[in-house]
Amino acid sequence: MAILPILRFPDPRLRLPCTPVTRIDDALRQLAADMLETMYAAPGRGLAGPQVGVLLRLFVMDVTWKEGTPSPRICLNPEILAASPETVTRTEGCLSIPGIDCPVARPAEITLRWTDLTGAVLEQDLSGFAATCAQHELDHLNGRLCIDLLDEPARAAASPALAAMA
Ligand code: NI
Repeated sequence: MAILPILRFPDPRLRLPCTPVTRIDDALRQLAADMLETMYAAPGRGLAGPQVGVLLRLFVMDVTWKEGTPSPRICLNPEILAASPETVTRTEGCLSIPGIDCPVARPAEITLRWTDLTGAVLEQDLSGFAATCAQHELDHLNGRLCIDLLDEPARAAASPALAAMA
């Protein structure tokens, strides 16, 4: 197990699309374990491959551990199969953009399909913070960041801090 360095905005690797995971081997299992350890240490609730410089379609998340009930999830090649028309706005943070609060409107419920480390393909309906977190992490795999989704007032509020990071 190892804590990996987390890339920070505006690192260009955060903007690259990721390629699918095609092999589940010891190296990938080690990466996933390291990503969970890194996420917990940060501390955060989600971490995607490109945030640790790995341009593969995987993320880890655990939306309940801070409340004392860990539920680690490792998602390979995640896809959103369905999204509710209803949206909800939550304030998101990103370990790659520390100190920036991002109010983002996203579908309130999604159906997520992913492959786990055993190679099983799973599907689950997610709601609440889990739905928001999975969408945020999946965006990372397409080079998209939560700051891209701000409305104009929120973007204006965040822009001095973002400019200072560049
Ligand atoms: Ni993020």
